[in-house]
Amino acid sequence: MKVGFLGFGEVASTISRGLLTEGVEILTCVKARSQRSADMAKSVDVELCETFSQLAESSDILLSTVVPAEAVNIAREVGRNVKGVYVDLNNVSPATINEASNHITNGKITDAAIMGSIKSGLKTPIIASGPSAETFAGLNNYGMNIEVIGPELGQVSGLKMLRSAYTKGVSALLFESFYAAYQMGMDEVLWRYLAQTEGPNFKESSISRLKSSAVHARRRAQEMDEVSEFLSEYEDPMVANAAAEFFHLLSNKRGLMSEKPTDYRDLFRKLENNLF
Ligand SMILES: NC(=O)c1ccc[n+]([C@@H]2O[C@H](COP(=O)([O-])OP(=O)(O)OC[C@H]3O[C@@H](n4cnc5c(N)ncnc54)[C@H](OP(=O)(O)O)[C@@H]3O)[C@@H](O)[C@H]2O)c1
Repeated sequence: MKVGFLGFGEVASTISRGLLTEGVEILTCVKARSQRSADMAKSVDVELCETFSQLAESSDILLSTVVPAEAVNIAREVGRNVKGVYVDLNNVSPATINEASNHITNGKITDAAIMGSIKSGLKTPIIASGPSAETFAGLNNYGMNIEVIGPELGQVSGLKMLRSAYTKGVSALLFESFYAAYQMGMDEVLWRYLAQTEGPNFKESSISRLKSSAVHARRRAQEMDEVSEFLSEYEDPMVANAAAEFFHLLSNKRGLMSEKPTDYRDLFRKLENNLF
């Protein structure tokens, strides 16, 4: 079994390390890529192809792990040379997956998503959909954790949009509620009462959301714009639009937080005193 990676960053190196221990051959191409990517490929000891076309021709399963903005470009670059199954693991919308699929001329493309952080290694849950998803899920025989959720392209990337709508919508509401509670001096009481209905880990997980909302406000804003566009195919989204606007406003407060604060109140203190 030969598994190829287009792009060799955090995702590719983590999955490769696990698959190599299972006896899978790993290929990539780092020609004209950054020193970081070249070093990562070297540290994992994968086979290096001279060109992306050669990589596409030699892989039974070819995973695209580039960056969302390059998902279509790389599909266009290698599409005609793909011999096996092409799996798009980038964080992209159903529209982008469909655009990428137009370039994979053998039609064997899979829409896939990492559900969580890849830091958990080979067992990180991945969901897949599309006509070749079952072939991709064959990598479960080599220690991966892939669930096929449907036969159509766009099902996985759509689900990812819905997950984002929920998690980022909740984050925006948390931020708004707790900023007011902080100004009232009532945040501790609100944590205590919400924990009674939301569960014992509520405070810990919510504080982590508050902090990352501030640090990643710009990325969240862009992601929520995509979510709103996606939802508007089905309904007139109101909460998602508001969450997008919220994150845009937060991201305009440049320098609010460059790294996660240790105490969420530091964040609110900065906001309260316009210290950004
Ligand atoms: N990390 C996670 O936990 C996680 C979770 C969910 C989804 N994802 C998705 O998985 C994908 C990869 O994430 P990552 O964390 O591994 O990113 P990363 O560490 O930034 O690695 C991206 C890799 O893609 C290469 N690349 C970028 N544009 C390319 C192009 N046009 N042609 C060929 N190679 C290109 C980069 O090369 P250079 O170094 O030369 O730029 C780098 O090797 C992303 O789309 C992300 O949305 C990641």
